[in-house]
Amino acid sequence: MSQFLRHADATPFASSLIEGLRDFGYSLETSLADIVDNSITARAQRVDILANTTGEHPWIAVVDDGIGMSEHALVDAMRPGSRNPKEERLEDDLGRFGLGLKSASFAQARMLSVYSRFENESVCATWDLDEVAKSNAWRISLQDAFTHPAIEGMNGASVTAVIWRKLDRLDGGYQNSAADRARTINAALSQAEQHLRLVFHRFMEGKRPRLKLFLNGRLLAPIDPFSESNPATQFDQPDDLPLSKGLVGIRCVTLPHHKKMSKIAWDETGGPDGHLKSQGLYIYRADRCCQTKANQSHFSRDLNPLGYAKTTPLGKSSGAVQLEI
Ligand SMILES: Nc1ncnc2c1ncn2[C@@H]1O[C@H](COP(=O)(O)OP(=O)(O)OP(=O)(O)O)[C@@H](O)[C@H]1O
Ligand SMILES: [Mg+2]
Repeated sequence: MSQFLRHADATPFASSLIEGLRDFGYSLETSLADIVDNSITARAQRVDILANTTGEHPWIAVVDDGIGMSEHALVDAMRPGSRNPKEERLEDDLGRFGLGLKSASFAQARMLSVYSRFENESVCATWDLDEVAKSNAWRISLQDAFTHPAIEGMNGASVTAVIWRKLDRLDGGYQNSAADRARTINAALSQAEQHLRLVFHRFMEGKRPRLKLFLNGRLLAPIDPFSESNPATQFDQPDDLPLSKGLVGIRCVTLPHHKKMSKIAWDETGGPDGHLKSQGLYIYRADRCCQTKANQSHFSRDLNPLGYAKTTPLGKSSGAVQLEI
């Protein structure tokens, strides 16, 4: 039978498939969270989100002091599907598909540059979707002598900067009005700021936080949806839920009465939708708050007028994770 088998080349067209990578459903906040998540996995202790929204060519960058990448590792990182989802990863590495860096970036920008300094060698790799549209080739450009305001003054031995330019998805269509464009991007950034403070709050807490996250030089404070440090918060006994791939810890938390919290802490723990809507299940994986009540529209609203109950699976939940597009 096999001698009758024929083959044909079905290599994807770069120019169409790469445009498809833009539409996985990322918002600015989830895109930034994916990039910061990569920085945390790369052992970064400081991450700077820098944005120039007022210039003629606005840009956003995420710069970290993590382990950096050699040129070889950087070229691999730029490849869509750079890692096999079946590959075993370290427990605290939430990466899986080898796609996030590219799809999260392309969702916001037509130009992605990643600069990395590793063992005193530096190189910058760039995907420019306009170039791919012209060449229809899976080809990135490499620059040894790369300069950009985002990396000025970053003197550490290892630095990685993810730089987004050509922000066509963020400019609100205001190509000709710099002021309106800046206002639109700044509003999205301010929403993203809240999201990042919540998702990574466990890394940002304490006197010696594991992560210092800055936005244009301003240190961001964590938002803990459970107000764990407030002595009036009530914690139920933790419980373990056995799933096919391991145990998931579950704990129910009741927030203090609003009189026992500052106005700012009360508003922030309630989130933009307020406390009634924000009670429910919060899912943490490797200390990242991956899912909040606010993004679970399928959960029924179980209002509790006496206290605001939130439930959190604790520790690692190594259950099957699916790519949700
Ligand atoms: N800030 C960084 N510092 C060092 N290496 C990085 C950094 N960001 C990304 N990388 C490398 O690039 C690779 C590709 O990143 P990408 O986000 O595309 O995929 P992933 O994190 O492996 O999986 P996922 O698609 O689930 O996010 C990572 O596996 C990592 O090796
Ligand atoms: Mg990733």
